[in-house]
Amino acid sequence: SDSYAVVGNPVEHSRSPAIHAMFAAQTGQQLTYERLLAPLDGFEATLRAFAAAGGKGCNVTVPFKFDAFALAAVRTERARLGGAVNTLRFDADGWTGDNTDGAGLVNDIQRNAGRTLAGLQVLLVGAGGAAAGVLGSLIAAAPARITVVNRTVDKAQALVAGHAHLGVPLHAATLADAPAEQDILINATSTSLAGAASPVDARVLARGALALDMMYGPKAQGFLDWAAAHGAEPRDGLGMLVEQAAEALFFWRGVRPETAPVLKTMRSELG
Ligand code: ATR
Repeated sequence: SDSYAVVGNPVEHSRSPAIHAMFAAQTGQQLTYERLLAPLDGFEATLRAFAAAGGKGCNVTVPFKFDAFALAAVRTERARLGGAVNTLRFDADGWTGDNTDGAGLVNDIQRNAGRTLAGLQVLLVGAGGAAAGVLGSLIAAAPARITVVNRTVDKAQALVAGHAHLGVPLHAATLADAPAEQDILINATSTSLAGAASPVDARVLARGALALDMMYGPKAQGFLDWAAAHGAEPRDGLGMLVEQAAEALFFWRGVRPETAPVLKTMRSELG
């Protein structure tokens, strides 16, 4: 059977092996999927050893998504836009890098949360690697407008400038200048790692807004509680995680698994 892995540091808490095991069982794919801890100075060596041992591809997580981008001989358009790679396929003639995070986020919002992004006002909070990785896919879903706000506004401006040619009105602003009444709020900052509530004021929420944090588990709880307290629909990043994994499986093997039952199982395991 073919072997895949998630490579990161740390990686021991990754839920990806459980997700891919369920996808493989469901689709009848003969594959194994393991966690691979790479030393901070040994990402490339870890990948080369894995590929030499027969590995067919891998997912890449913190802090190696930029290194993975650099190592890919060929990159998909969406990987190029975000400047980061979360999925590598070890093709015979070189490694191809993709980024499935944005499609995962959009599929979770549209299919699992049931919100069609076309025509909506979207607020993306953060301008680091997580935000950069998803902006192109958000644009492709044709919302009315996307505003990127960040503590360091220069980074929001740079991110917007790099995507300005794609045809959806984009704006950059400080956290304090975030526009009011947004339909979809996406927290792509690492503030939830510190258990903080929200980096933006509740006036950004339109009535019935969807408020999504890319984190899941206890780290997301502060933001989710804040969102619910202000009348928004809270959503964590578990659906995005499952959907990006489904996109990765498709990229590797051309097979599309059903995500809903897997998300349901993951949700019940998370408690
Ligand atoms: P990641 O890969 O998770 O995106 P990153 O590239 O380090 O990590 O980006 C972290 C994001 O969280 C940035 O948008 C950062 O804001 P700055 O660009 O101003 O640093 C944001 N962030 C981290 N801590 C924050 C805080 N306490 N308040 C507001 N934003 C914060």
